[in-house]
Amino acid sequence: MNYRIYIAEKLNITDIAAGDIALPPNSEMGDYALPCFKLAKVFRKSPVQIAEELKNGFVCDSIISEVNAVNGYLNFKINKVGLAQNVISEILKSGENYGSSEEGKGKTVCIDYSSVNIAKPFHIGHLSTTVIGGALYKIFNHLGYKVVGINHLGDYGTQFGKLICAYKKWGNKEDVQNGGIHAINALYVRFNEEADEKMEAEAREYFRLIESGDKEANELFEWFKSLTLDYVKKIYDKLNITFDSYAGERFYTDKMQPVIDELKQKNLLKISDGAQIVDLEPYGMPPCLILRSDGASLYATRDLAAATYRKKTYDFYKCLYVVAYQQNLHFNQIFKVLELMGKPWAKDLVHVAYGMVSLEDGAMSTRKGKVVWLEDVISKCVEKAYAVITEKNSALENKDKIAETVGLGAVIFGALYNNKIKDITFSYDKVLSFEGETSVYVQYTCARANSVLEKSGQKIQLPPEYMPDNVESEVVKTLALFPQTVHDAAEKYEPSLIARYAVDLAQKFNKFYIECKILTETGDTKDFRLALTKATHTALKCSLSLLGIGAPEKM
Ligand code: ARG
Repeated sequence: MNYRIYIAEKLNITDIAAGDIALPPNSEMGDYALPCFKLAKVFRKSPVQIAEELKNGFVCDSIISEVNAVNGYLNFKINKVGLAQNVISEILKSGENYGSSEEGKGKTVCIDYSSVNIAKPFHIGHLSTTVIGGALYKIFNHLGYKVVGINHLGDYGTQFGKLICAYKKWGNKEDVQNGGIHAINALYVRFNEEADEKMEAEAREYFRLIESGDKEANELFEWFKSLTLDYVKKIYDKLNITFDSYAGERFYTDKMQPVIDELKQKNLLKISDGAQIVDLEPYGMPPCLILRSDGASLYATRDLAAATYRKKTYDFYKCLYVVAYQQNLHFNQIFKVLELMGKPWAKDLVHVAYGMVSLEDGAMSTRKGKVVWLEDVISKCVEKAYAVITEKNSALENKDKIAETVGLGAVIFGALYNNKIKDITFSYDKVLSFEGETSVYVQYTCARANSVLEKSGQKIQLPPEYMPDNVESEVVKTLALFPQTVHDAAEKYEPSLIARYAVDLAQKFNKFYIECKILTETGDTKDFRLALTKATHTALKCSLSLLGIGAPEKM
């Protein structure tokens, strides 16, 4: 049950919605609160007076046990017995579907994420887009939306001409087949270091051959592409990431002309230094380049075609682009151009921008050649996870498998825990700490709850009419917040809300675990505590799974 909605509906005031019901900073005051300041204008009365009047008109029931007016706030106390019954039984009933809803029924959300570049390193800089996009995918799905995950491959451009040229000169089939993406990337890097004018000209010719449908050039290109995709798909599997479409930039080759024609027809194209542009000066932006003076299309041209295609194909309710904030201008430009073209759906395009990830030792930049491959970050985390879990519990069985789940969780959670727009420094020790705000801590708590349940060997039955004490109540209240958290995470495109929720719930549960006996209790108290443990175990697993993280049964 969503208490905010319940309270808002019970108040029945036109200007008040569930979102206006807040959580007081300290639960002594109440479990929920309505600040009455916003209403002062509407009712032309002071917030204090409004709170007082609302209090007098409010009738408590089996769900809300007490209401108080304090300094312009209306504070609600929830009936603890009823709350515990409601929340725990709902979780026991829904299991892994806890927090799911049908709010997105009939709506499609496209998510453009990870969007790798063929033949280029899949590096630490791709971590955020991959895991934020992957989490949003699962979150929207949980809320009943149809989700289309799109990997908008960077598979277009002159670099592929260079690559073919380098391969012809220095490469051989066997080495590339065996070396995969690393081998092709090495060829590309070598081209950039060593190519002379003659090779540059050859590379342009190879690019032209790809474009004109030449068989050999296209076979080579497709081969490079499949080597890259085979490689990244292995990483996606580990990270629990899936895509419904790999339509990349090249896919739009024949879909740009209609967009260009439409721009022309709507008088939006201007010629500037021989290039075709859309002037965005009135909107405080540099022009959006559509065709270069040599007639070549650009990244933006393909994105205009892609957005148009997605609307036509999926009729999306929202189309998200999970791309670093460095591309803010690019997305502002293409969204504006589509708006100027009169596309009413331009307002449904959202750039979900995120900050940079760097490693503690400062390594990260591609240009400086200090590339950190994501694969290596993952292996290192898994390796360290093995050491960390062994230290904690050397007798643990299946350590390899558990280390894999813990290590991968740490990579994902490390990138998801902070507000997405923040730049983060990735620290192996921090993300693998049992004590910190980490996935390891959440997973460990999950395993702890599981162990209690296993030891009890008892069927879970929630005793009716049980009055939880304060520590138990805190766990119950946190459990109740999950559905709203999932909703907020989708609305704000912010998976970190779920990561933070998981840590909060784990902390509350651990306080309960330390302060309250469970297995040595008897009767209703034992039954209630086991039910609470089971509900927490479920909610923690749900939270982790929405982020793409597994929960080992033992740790
Ligand atoms: N491949 C691009 C890059 O690595 C990201 C593509 C993002 N998606 C898009 N539709 N522009 O920068």
